[in-house]
Amino acid sequence: MQNFQFLSSTKIIFGKETEKKVGSECKKHSSKVLLHYGGGSIKKTGLYETICLSLQEAGIEYIELSGVQPNPRLSLVKEGIKICRENAIDFILAVGGGSVIDSAKAISTGTPYEGDVWDFFEGKAVPENVLKVGVVLTIPAAGSEASKSCVITNEDGWYKRGLNVEINRPVFAIMNPELTYTLPPYQTASGAADIMAHIMERYFTNVSNVDLTDRLCEGALQTVIKNTPMVMENPENYDARAEIMWASTLAHNDLLGVGRIGDWSSHQIEHELSGIYDVAHGAGLAVILPAWMKYIYKQRIERFAQFAVRVWNVGYDFETPERTALEGIKRLEDFFKGIGLPTTLKGLNIPDDRLEEMAQKCKKTNGDKLGFFVPLSTEDIFNILKLAK
Ligand code: NZQ
Ligand code: ZN
Repeated sequence: MQNFQFLSSTKIIFGKETEKKVGSECKKHSSKVLLHYGGGSIKKTGLYETICLSLQEAGIEYIELSGVQPNPRLSLVKEGIKICRENAIDFILAVGGGSVIDSAKAISTGTPYEGDVWDFFEGKAVPENVLKVGVVLTIPAAGSEASKSCVITNEDGWYKRGLNVEINRPVFAIMNPELTYTLPPYQTASGAADIMAHIMERYFTNVSNVDLTDRLCEGALQTVIKNTPMVMENPENYDARAEIMWASTLAHNDLLGVGRIGDWSSHQIEHELSGIYDVAHGAGLAVILPAWMKYIYKQRIERFAQFAVRVWNVGYDFETPERTALEGIKRLEDFFKGIGLPTTLKGLNIPDDRLEEMAQKCKKTNGDKLGFFVPLSTEDIFNILKLAK
């Protein structure tokens, strides 16, 4: 196990009707907030009224900025920065999923910064001050509610890039599983794939003697595998929704990654897909992950065999462990198909004429850092994308 520091500073407020506490929670930090949300689901579900009422009861002044799109755009971030500056806002309340939270985080880093906020995403500057961000989560998926990451798409060239800094973690996250009952099945399934991907990116490591986090990862994966079909069957199964929602946070608040070095190349490759083709991030991962596994498993057969045995209950084939490894990959792919996700680029309606461009873009952004478990060259990325066709 490697040395590590662990601080997951987000206060989690979990359970039924917790969204009614949003006003009093915000009040601990500010009396003037930017209320940030997406394309309107919160108005359809009635959550918007609950939030506004709670803010009003707490005596909080708020200015709204809606319209965050999935794969959140830089232009709206810049609009948010302008609003915060002009109105001396010092707190952002994100009501939604990863896209809204990430947009809020980007606004929070850009507002006190004199330069262009995109500098942070290009590694030209590191944010030193941020506005605080609070969250009411409506979809378990990205884990942004307690993560240090934020991923934004720059429409100028369709670059989707991440920023990872500790001060990005929200101060609180309100998580009521009931708020996820209204999710369309495809979003529920994409969310599950993203949660599993965050665990698997950490699970596939070259660091040895990480038994506890191995077991935590395996348990978290099995929880998502058990509960996702249950919510696909019955979207209002509170307990199953609750398991998935808590898994989404633990998958990406770094607890499962302490002392180990994750891989993260599937995420980087996927960001090229959702950056250019605007697909749901989790659905993109359901395509890339199995292709990545098929491409690299031969170099790490034992770890893939462990994944198959412990996560998917595959019997270990002592004569040919490779068969065990392959069976685990097959079960993952079958699971994604079973919850209605595409597992090929074709299934995502992505043509194969820009694979080389995506491979080059991905390698250019990540350089030698791409693939800590198995390093990838531009040709490898291209081959993985070809395997995903
Ligand atoms: O915009 P609205 O109308 O609210 O609709 C949203 C959106 O269309 C809808 N939705 C959300 N909650 C709902 C609901 N519809 C009905 N009922 C509800 N309760 O779902 C759609 C998707 O929302 P989005 O926020 O895009 O989903 P997700 O949480 O999967 O976020 C994806 C984004 O997060 C990034 C991804 O790259 C992507 O841009 N990620 C962020 C990470 C982080 N910050 O730590 C890590 C991840 O790896 C990921 O990269
Ligand atoms: Zn992800």
